Amino acid sequence: ALIDKGNHRHFMQKEIYEQPIVVAQTLRSYLQRFEGRIVLPIPDFDLSGIRRVTIVACGTSFYAGMVAKYWFEQFARVPVDLDVASEFRYRAPVMEEGGLALFISQSGETADTLAALRHARAEKQVIAVVVNVPTSTMAREADLLLPTHAGPEIGVASTKAFTCQLAVLAALAANLAKAKGRLTEAEERNIVRQLAEAPAAINGALAYDESIEAIAGTVAGARDVLYLGRGTDYPLALEGALKLKEISYIHAEGYAAGEMKHGPIALIDEHVPVVVIAPTGPLFDKTVSNMQEVQARGGKVLLISDYDGVEAAGEGCVATITMPKVHPLIAPLVYAVPVQLLAYHVAVAKGTDVDQPRNLAKSVTVE
Ligand code: AGP
Repeated sequence: ALIDKGNHRHFMQKEIYEQPIVVAQTLRSYLQRFEGRIVLPIPDFDLSGIRRVTIVACGTSFYAGMVAKYWFEQFARVPVDLDVASEFRYRAPVMEEGGLALFISQSGETADTLAALRHARAEKQVIAVVVNVPTSTMAREADLLLPTHAGPEIGVASTKAFTCQLAVLAALAANLAKAKGRLTEAEERNIVRQLAEAPAAINGALAYDESIEAIAGTVAGARDVLYLGRGTDYPLALEGALKLKEISYIHAEGYAAGEMKHGPIALIDEHVPVVVIAPTGPLFDKTVSNMQEVQARGGKVLLISDYDGVEAAGEGCVATITMPKVHPLIAPLVYAVPVQLLAYHVAVAKGTDVDQPRNLAKSVTVE
């Protein structure tokens, strides 16, 4: 059969492992590696007049959009409005004519996202779609079609589609920055170089699979799990929590690390594992101090960082997961892997149906 699990026990596991290849495959249509240039599949599409971006999606695709918001603002200095599709359409969103409305979807058929797209069309937005299924309704209705090349995703829990979406969104953010005159050629070359390193870095993250499997037991017995991160690691915390809920049925929440002290820290005791996503970088010290607040209340911290981060802050954690040291731009693509693997191994340990979790459908085609 064209679609089988190969040597893998589940489709989800196979799809996690495909990420280095499919991210490389996706990047190939957005990067001219040797020239050091970023190009969109529609090269003459003019983004220079875009003054505002509205990003709309659901679930994991929404979290990819949330990462992209940080990138659009940081690189292109364009204001971004972001919402889940089911809220967007019913809150009377204000859109200026000629804005860019960006929809992100693996399937291209999610009913809420499609309805939001049509709403934005009626509001005279330019419609950009990041989509994995090239024959989908959303792909057909796009002005600017930005395909991911993840191949068919069978597991209900989205994995490889997410990292491919991030790859496309990083390229789009850089492209918008370029169109806005905010990127020098040298900076563009540097971004291309960083993105081109993502597949190898994802491979490096996969090498920690066994050590992640070994600590899955710390989480499998828990009733509640928290995930914390700052900056682009905040959407990753949300994504980590979603993955865990979906396939292991353990209650999990993602929080911006700095929000802990505004409420959720009341939940902390020795029974609550707290997964902290904190690569070294400008936000590292702040996240670590939030982590220490958790530890001071008896919380069991699992720290995901790079070697330097684990060296600096790993003491007192019940477990650490060491990622390759990467440029902040590709960190979300790399740190997606340990949160996927953790959810996967916890679900396997609990014996749940990993590829077909209860109550869920791969594509939600009703509103
Ligand atoms: C993620 O693991 C989900 N199963 C779900 O949240 C999914 O991302 C969401 O339904 C959106 O689907 P789409 O990307 O096909 O639009």
